[in-house]
Amino acid sequence: MLLNNVCIYSSLPEKIIKENQPLSDLSTLGAGGTAEYFAQPESPEELQQVIRAIRSADSPFTFPLPVYVIGGGTNTLISDGITHGLTVSTRKMDSVTWLNDSTAEIQSGFSLPVLVRTLRERNIGGLEFAEGIPGTLGGALSGNAGAGGKGVCEFADRVKAVDRSGNMMTFTRGEFDYGYRRCSLCGEALIIVSAVMSFDRSVPYDAEAGENFRSRRKSQPLNSRSAGCTFKNPEGKSAGKLLDECGCKGLSVGDAVVSDKHANFILNKGHASCSDISELIRLCAERVYENTGVMLEPEIRRWQPVFCVQ
Ligand code: EPU
Repeated sequence: MLLNNVCIYSSLPEKIIKENQPLSDLSTLGAGGTAEYFAQPESPEELQQVIRAIRSADSPFTFPLPVYVIGGGTNTLISDGITHGLTVSTRKMDSVTWLNDSTAEIQSGFSLPVLVRTLRERNIGGLEFAEGIPGTLGGALSGNAGAGGKGVCEFADRVKAVDRSGNMMTFTRGEFDYGYRRCSLCGEALIIVSAVMSFDRSVPYDAEAGENFRSRRKSQPLNSRSAGCTFKNPEGKSAGKLLDECGCKGLSVGDAVVSDKHANFILNKGHASCSDISELIRLCAERVYENTGVMLEPEIRRWQPVFCVQ
């Protein structure tokens, strides 16, 4: 084993970097291959240590070393085969510290459903739209997850992220921007590690609105393996409706199938590979384009490195 008995471990908790880690269980689609190197740090500081140790003079790694990030895996299509480089799972960076009764510093691996439930229980409004959205806070922030014209980034006062050198960066409101399923911090060669989320204590949780958002998701195949909506809604249109009208329901490639319940969901009915799912995404987009002239943009994230350590 390449990494055994090398001094990289001397500065790290033992065996924090594993080799040949299967990745398919880390994605709700249940597809994808194996990580060459894999780390699941338990704190932002531990992630910094991992990156700094990789960069250290006696490091056994070959450079540039691509670094991939997976959070809750609810919106990511992991590639087949070997993912060369380091894959970081943020799931164990999951602590939350309440700074006052409506503001909390929350690590990126913390569960979005648990955050929503906590606010509901504390009768603090704001995140009703996120009822039923799965995943981690980091993933939700990087794609500004939301519904009904709202997104989680609206509540982020400050976001902390680790860069390719292992430095901690802080972005305060105004230093990042966001829109429909988009946040400028995503694509900035950063790993989001925590955010200070601030809610308005004077606005009570609207249980009816929360229930409405949750029940809208009853039209979705939530008990099957999928990565949520495949495509973003084009301005003023519904991707699900367009796909349905173009006859995409039931289309399949291998074990990847377009849901009969909601046409904007692709399901893994068995052992679908990333390439099966990618091909089905391409076929659906092509069919909608040929029939309507609308070019759908995927919402599911492709598997690509956030940065390379040099
Ligand atoms: N529709 C069809 N056929 C279908 C699916 C939908 O005709 O197969 C029609 C529906 O009847 C409705 C319209 O399309 O008239 C819109 O569908 P829906 O209400 O299901 O909402 P959506 O626009 O498809 C959005 C978000 C979901 C979110 C729901 C509920 C996007 C791409 N999708 O879906 O988010 O859960 O609203 O709030 O913005 C996600 O991002 O992964 C996701 C699932």
